[in-house]
Amino acid sequence: MLPTGGKGTTMRDKLTVILDMDPTPARGVFEECLSEDGDFEVLGAGEEYADLLVRELAPDGGEAQLEAVADMVARRGEREVFLTAPVYDAEVLMRLMRQGVREFFPQPVNHEEVRMALWRFKERREAALGPKRSKQGRIVSIFGAKGGVGTTSLAVNLAAACQTHKPGATVALMDMNLPFGEAQLFLDIAPKYHWGEVLGNISRLDATYLMSVMSRHPSGIYLLAPPSRLDDLQMATPENISRLLELMRQVFDTVVIDLGMYLDEITLKVMDISDAIVLVCVQNLPCLANVRRFLDNIRHADSGLEEKLKIVVNRHLDESDLVVEDMEKALGLPVFWRVPNDYKTTLAAINQGKTLLETAPRAPVTRSLGDLAATLAPVQTAEEAKKPLFGLKFLRGRS
Ligand SMILES: Nc1ncnc2c1ncn2[C@@H]1O[C@H](COP(=O)(O)OP(=O)(O)OP(=O)(O)O)[C@@H](O)[C@H]1O
Ligand SMILES: [Mg+2]
Repeated sequence: MLPTGGKGTTMRDKLTVILDMDPTPARGVFEECLSEDGDFEVLGAGEEYADLLVRELAPDGGEAQLEAVADMVARRGEREVFLTAPVYDAEVLMRLMRQGVREFFPQPVNHEEVRMALWRFKERREAALGPKRSKQGRIVSIFGAKGGVGTTSLAVNLAAACQTHKPGATVALMDMNLPFGEAQLFLDIAPKYHWGEVLGNISRLDATYLMSVMSRHPSGIYLLAPPSRLDDLQMATPENISRLLELMRQVFDTVVIDLGMYLDEITLKVMDISDAIVLVCVQNLPCLANVRRFLDNIRHADSGLEEKLKIVVNRHLDESDLVVEDMEKALGLPVFWRVPNDYKTTLAAINQGKTLLETAPRAPVTRSLGDLAATLAPVQTAEEAKKPLFGLKFLRGRS
């Protein structure tokens, strides 16, 4: 039961939730969504106060049950009440909503609807706390010097590693390979939406809309897939892509972008906005030649991109006709990272639609990518973590 008046927001880091429900499938969906979202803590039975109460109505509860709900809603204060029921009467539902129930979920409860309702709840909580200080998440772009060098493998596994090394972090993976992005296959998910639609609706773009089009992978990363039809690219201008990325960095701690291997005005714009550009190559002469051409292009454009460029040699072999030291001499630039060669392990992960952290957490290739992720997207210092951020960390200390 919610107390009358009483405490405001707690001293906890997380938003608290009471699930006033039997162990039904509906409860399972709520538990799943709440645990996927790092900002919530489900309180045990017997706790009296929570930021959110989710109650399941019994089919045979009658008028007494509705009165109890009305009473609870009337005394909710700052708290919110969500309801779910296996059967319901539209008129009764309207009445409860007018009385102040915030969301209602018919059963079977839809996972996506709960995820979005929780997201909206967080947004309302944040808005109530005054103007928000947005995040400045890091954008890390992965660009291939050539096809097949491992750009998508690196993008997917770096995103997964960023999620793991920063507990509670929000990480997005944006696939910009056109027209056929493969990140969704690497993660074995079937996205319903793509960023072409977002750009087509750019005037209504906000955090809630953005979250509704992203697909969540069980590892916790959010994927934004590319359009697979050229018709959907009409709004793909550098300006619109910039708007989208600026919003993404306000919502996510880290945004990893699989940029593919084509240089055009959009990829250049993305590189311009990025905090780090990973240029993936392997130890062969065509790749070396392409890295040189890439450098010529960005130097010629005097774009300031070179300072954030990180040359990464993937599939690294100590013994090769072309050793890294010779590549560095030829380029006049240091190689930033060497990712060990492990075709079997990387291919097995791709074919299973899983990340390397899931299939081979201890393999040298996985560890190397984990360390690279930690270098490219370092964990915040304790001081930084205390700053008011979108992820609701700022609830700490309010009373
Ligand atoms: N570190 C590695 N060691 C060995 N093989 C690797 C490594 N990283 C990726 N590969 C292999 O390289 C192949 C191509 O990988 P991936 O699809 O990620 O490359 P890509 O550059 O994105 O290709 P495309 O140009 O088709 O988009 C895969 O078979 C993968 O197993
Ligand atoms: Mg690829």
